[in-house]
This record gives sequence, C-alpha cells and structure tokens, in this order.
Amino acid sequence: MDKMWSGRFSAGASNLLDQFNASIMYDRKLYREDIEGSLAHASMLAKQGILTTEELREIVDGLNQVRNEIESGEFEWKISDEDLHMGIEKRLTAIIGDTGKKLHTARSRNDQVAVDFRRYVLRKNLEIVDALKLLMNEVVVVADLHTETLIPGMTHLQHAQPINFAFHLGAYLSMFKRDIARFEDSYKRNNISPLGCAALAGTPHNVDREMTADILGFDSVSVNCLDTVSDRDFALEILFNISTMMMHISRLSEELVMWSSYEFGFVELSDEYSTGSSIMPQKKNPDVPELLRGKTGRVYGSLMGLLTVMKGLPLAYNKDTQEDKEGVFDAVETAEISLEILKEAIKTMEVKAKNMESACAIGHLSATDLADYLVEKCAIPFREAHFITGRAVAKGEELNVDLSKMEYKYLKEIDERINEDVMEFLGLRHSMNARTSEGGTASIRTKEQLEYFKKYLQGA
Ligand code: ARG
Repeated sequence: MDKMWSGRFSAGASNLLDQFNASIMYDRKLYREDIEGSLAHASMLAKQGILTTEELREIVDGLNQVRNEIESGEFEWKISDEDLHMGIEKRLTAIIGDTGKKLHTARSRNDQVAVDFRRYVLRKNLEIVDALKLLMNEVVVVADLHTETLIPGMTHLQHAQPINFAFHLGAYLSMFKRDIARFEDSYKRNNISPLGCAALAGTPHNVDREMTADILGFDSVSVNCLDTVSDRDFALEILFNISTMMMHISRLSEELVMWSSYEFGFVELSDEYSTGSSIMPQKKNPDVPELLRGKTGRVYGSLMGLLTVMKGLPLAYNKDTQEDKEGVFDAVETAEISLEILKEAIKTMEVKAKNMESACAIGHLSATDLADYLVEKCAIPFREAHFITGRAVAKGEELNVDLSKMEYKYLKEIDERINEDVMEFLGLRHSMNARTSEGGTASIRTKEQLEYFKKYLQGA
C-alpha cells in the first residue's frame, strides 16, 4: 500500500494493474520538464505565502538532488510508482521528509502532465525548425551548383518540359519552408501555461498563474481549466506537422530511389549512405531514402492513433490521454534522425549532371516550345499550333529523332509558315531559359528563387 492515492483503498494494486497502468517507463523522458515545473510551482507557492522560505529551500535542494540522481543513473524508476510525477515526488519526500508532501498543494497531475508534455512538444517544434533549416542549407548548396543543369521536368512521370536541377530542388525548399512555418505557428499558438488549472476546475488556493507561466517561458495563461487539462491539440499539431514534413521527405526520397536506378542514373548515393546485399555482390541499395519513405507511414500511424484516442473523450481528463506520449516521442525521434540523415545523404551524393542532360534529349521536351513559336511568330491560334506540333512529334517518332534535333526541312513540310528561326526555339536549353515568368525555371529565375531561400535562411 505504498501508493500516493492509497487512502481510500484497503487492498494494494495487483502487479498486473501496475504494469498496465504505468507510464513511468516512457514518460521519464519528461523528467527535466517535470522538475522545472515543480520548481516554478514551489517558488510561486512561497511567494504567495503558501510555503515558507525554508520549505521552499528544502524543496529546491531536494528536487535538484533528484535531478542529479536521474542524470547520474542512480534514480530507481519503479513501475509501482505509476508515472514520473509520482516517482519524483515520492523520492523528493524520501529525501527531505514531510515538506515534500506540501509540493502538490494547488496542483494535480492533470495540470502537471499538461505542463510537462506541452513544454516538451513546444521545444521540439523549435528544434525541428533548426534541423529543417540545416537540411535546407544543404539543399541550397547542391542547388547552387546546378542552376544550368538540365533535367527532364515530368508530369505523370512522363517527360514534359526541360527544367534545371536547381529548380527541381527549389520545389522541395518551398515545401520545407512551409513545414517550418507550421512548426513555428504551432509553437506560438500553444505556448500557453496549464499550470494552476489543478485537476479540472482551478483551485481555491491563491495561486499566481502568471508567475509560473513566466518562469516556465510560456507567453500566457490558459483561459479555461476544463479545456486545458484535457487539451492535446498541441500534440496532434506536432504529429500533423511531422507527418506533412515526412510526406515531403518521402516524395524526395522516392525520387532519390528512382534517380539511383540504372534506368535513371541521375544520382549516386555515397558509400557511407548506401547498403549492400547479403547475396548479390554487385548491389548498392538506397536504403536511406527507402527507410525515410517507410518511416513516413509509421508517423502517420501515430497521428491517426492520437486522433482516435481523443475523439470520444468526455471532459475533462481521462486516463486514455496517457496514450498521447509514445506516438509523439516516436514521431519526434523519427523526425530528428530523418532530417539528419537526409541532410548527410544529400551532402554526400554525386549528381550525374551529364545523365540528367542526356535524358532531356528523349521525349520531345521542346514540343510546347514549337507550339509557342507557332503562336508567337506565325500568329496561329494555340489549339491549331498544338495540332501542328503533334504532327511534328509524330514525324519525329517515325524518323526516330527527338524534336530538338529534327532537321528544318521536315518541319517546313508539316507547315510552310514555319521559318528557319524555329531551330533556336527547339533547343532544350532555350526551352528552359524561355520560361522566365515569375517562379519559372529559367536559370535567372531559379537563381532569384535560391536567393530568396538564402535570405530566408539567413533570417533576413
Ligand atoms: N500518467 C498520467 C498521464 O500521462 C498523468 C496524469 C494522471 N492523472 C490522473 N488523474 N490519473 O496522463
């Protein structure tokens, strides 16, 4: 009968219940947040005259000792303590005696866990932003080298129009920038202190919620306690933010996997970030992007898991809520290692610019340019120009020659309004550089885009 809540019970909890009920084996990850929360709460209680200065000193010393014990590995995490909150408070009381029992005045585990978990999630939102920026920096470094490197731009995975490789990477920079905005936005929206809400209804003690919010770095104090102790939107938001970021990472990974194949041959991942086969000696496998793609699914699972846990809960706190942590911890750790390894894989990969460029000479990538030429130089309506160009493409297929290399005489045969100056328009580089509209692929536009991302990353 060593439970903190054992007063109204006459028999002790079964071992089976201890195992089923406990979160201490994973919520111990929040020990720093928990101790900081307790220190803030104790300081506030002392300022309000609820604890004496001497009692505060004892509690502060005791909590510091508990922290040292945890950090040195001495602390004994016991499943019978149920969660880290009770494990730490119990140890505090064992160290300092009865004063330890005063710490929980005007507090419940419901606001305590809301503080701890929220602060962990807030911190992780910002740490992931930093890691995303490091990844973006590395993408910019590669992109800078390839503003002139042609690569087939695709729709439906079919050759569409020539673009440059930096422009292609710029698409991912845009996605990562949006991801950062989502993490920052969640941070701002959720930076609100639950401390002082107690179990659900607030407390009759004269607490100063502003003070603890201030000490713990929260922007403000929550408005409605009933909501606050059962709100896990902050956890859902980071799961959604990570899921969306992983979806972007997964799309890039899919491309890296394809580009690493012999069929594409656009990149080669470094030996350090590739793996071999246990049977086929020639294999060099892109396990890193494949796993990134795979881990995306697992992160989505955590998002779906928590949404489902939350959907039927009556107000306010319910024990179901304890299921909020493992999925978030797993998603955060997955995000952290994914960002790091993707950055390294990109930094060390070889870009095979020649192969990218030769792939552009297949599939009549400048067909749209011929149609645009007919519109611009020959005053032919676009629909008709589209049809004429289709016939030129068919001729190319018949001759087995790409439109960009087709002899002028064949084009003239198809439509006599076509003049010799068409040849320039059919060039692949010309095609890419002609797309100068804002946000377009022309090298000068791509360079502007990279400047935009560089400025953003420098915080300008
Ligand atoms: N371990 C619990 C959790 O993670 C802490 C809050 C428990 N509160 C309670 N009234 N049982 O949610």
